Amino acid sequence: MPYETYKLLHVVGLLLLFLGMGGQLLGADSERGRAPRGTAILHAVGLLVMLVGGFGMMARLGIQWPWPGWLIAKRGVWLTIGALPVVVRRQLIPHGLAWLVAVVLGGLAAWLAISKPF
Ligand code: HEM
Repeated sequence: MPYETYKLLHVVGLLLLFLGMGGQLLGADSERGRAPRGTAILHAVGLLVMLVGGFGMMARLGIQWPWPGWLIAKRGVWLTIGALPVVVRRQLIPHGLAWLVAVVLGGLAAWLAISKPF
């Protein structure tokens, strides 16, 4: 598959991830304290599709180990965003803060990919 297709997968995965995460954060704040199961599935599928797109782009760009700093940092962001709904459900951080954390992490990962600062 060409680089552009992997990039499209990466961006579609990102959309699914944030759609699911929005639902998860809303659900965690609801009376039931839980979000509909579909939001967890969207979140998980988004994480996976992003990863497939990311690995595919790495292959097309010829990125091999040792990975550049910006890519390792993006992995860290991906893992943190992946764990965020669980962190909120366990009330380890306040709900309101979780929304801000999600947006800042997403913006950070996009900036890392676009600017490649290190
Ligand atoms: C939540 C976490 C992530 C977000 C928000 C994110 C976002 C983005 C965005 C917006 C781009 C396009 C940048 C551009 O147009 O130049 C991009 C590119 C890329 N991402 Fe991610 N990404 C994330 C996680 C990952 C992960 C986990 C990997 C590795 C498996 C990865 C690998 C890449 C690669 C290789 C590129 C292409 C860079 C280039 O074309 O020079 N990303 N990412």
